[in-house]
Amino acid sequence: MSPNIIDGKAFAAKVREKVAEHTARLKSEHGITPGLAVVLVGEDPASEVYVRSKGKATVEAGMNSYEHNLPADSSEETLLELIDRLNNDPDVHGILVQLPLPDHLDSDLVINALDPAKDVDGFHISNVGLLGTGQKSMVPCTPLGCLMMLREHHGSLSGLNAVVLGRSNIVGKPMAQLLLGDSCTVTIAHSRTRDLDQVCRSADILVAAVGRPEMVPGDWVKPGATVIDVGINRIPHPEKEGKTRLVGDVDFESAAKAAGAITPVPGGVGPMTIACLLANTLTACSRAHG
Ligand code: GUN
Repeated sequence: MSPNIIDGKAFAAKVREKVAEHTARLKSEHGITPGLAVVLVGEDPASEVYVRSKGKATVEAGMNSYEHNLPADSSEETLLELIDRLNNDPDVHGILVQLPLPDHLDSDLVINALDPAKDVDGFHISNVGLLGTGQKSMVPCTPLGCLMMLREHHGSLSGLNAVVLGRSNIVGKPMAQLLLGDSCTVTIAHSRTRDLDQVCRSADILVAAVGRPEMVPGDWVKPGATVIDVGINRIPHPEKEGKTRLVGDVDFESAAKAAGAITPVPGGVGPMTIACLLANTLTACSRAHG
């Protein structure tokens, strides 16, 4: 692997190993096994793939995985009943409701019905508020994974200019909060930002989370900057007809020439997201047992 590529897969493997070791200790010394419940409503193929890989990783870490698949036409009442049951189940330490939910379900209402202490996604309004005020919270997995890679690469982030491209509740906004917490000067850029190329070029750290395939070209990257590509976009394969390939929000080839360090897609942020989900489940379990 080229020296300026941040190997998220290898870093995630290390995090998962640590989580597995800690989990084994919890089991042998205290008889406690962390448990993660994943709730999937409907049959979205991409969500099914994510849920399956989360379940597999959970079991591999030595934790209990509980999968709940509800039909696409489930009522809000049915889903809220399930969440209430999981909130009150002492064997369940973390709950993740896979998004997006079908249109007839109110995601905010559903997420805010979770016990915040079991909200391993960090999406509950209490956790959002705690993160925003620098208090102990559950931190969303993808931005947490990005932060861990940045800290590993840079050591201190203090004083660096960070540009977060994208303003989603899941990635952009919490990412900005975390970078601010590490004393970066943070800009959140988005589709309406003027002179987006120049804004991106001012970044020592550029985090792209817009969901647009290869939107960031190499000449938007300041020479030597660190680029974290959160995008996972499936596009038609340029050479193999009928096939697809995964690309990020950054044009990897040109950006890698300018960047001091860059995460690839796949093998960058994606594996870290799952590793952080396991870490959050362990944290939730440890906090639940004092
Ligand atoms: N859908 C896409 N990303 C995520 C995530 O991080 N958590 C949940 N619950 N759903 C998602």
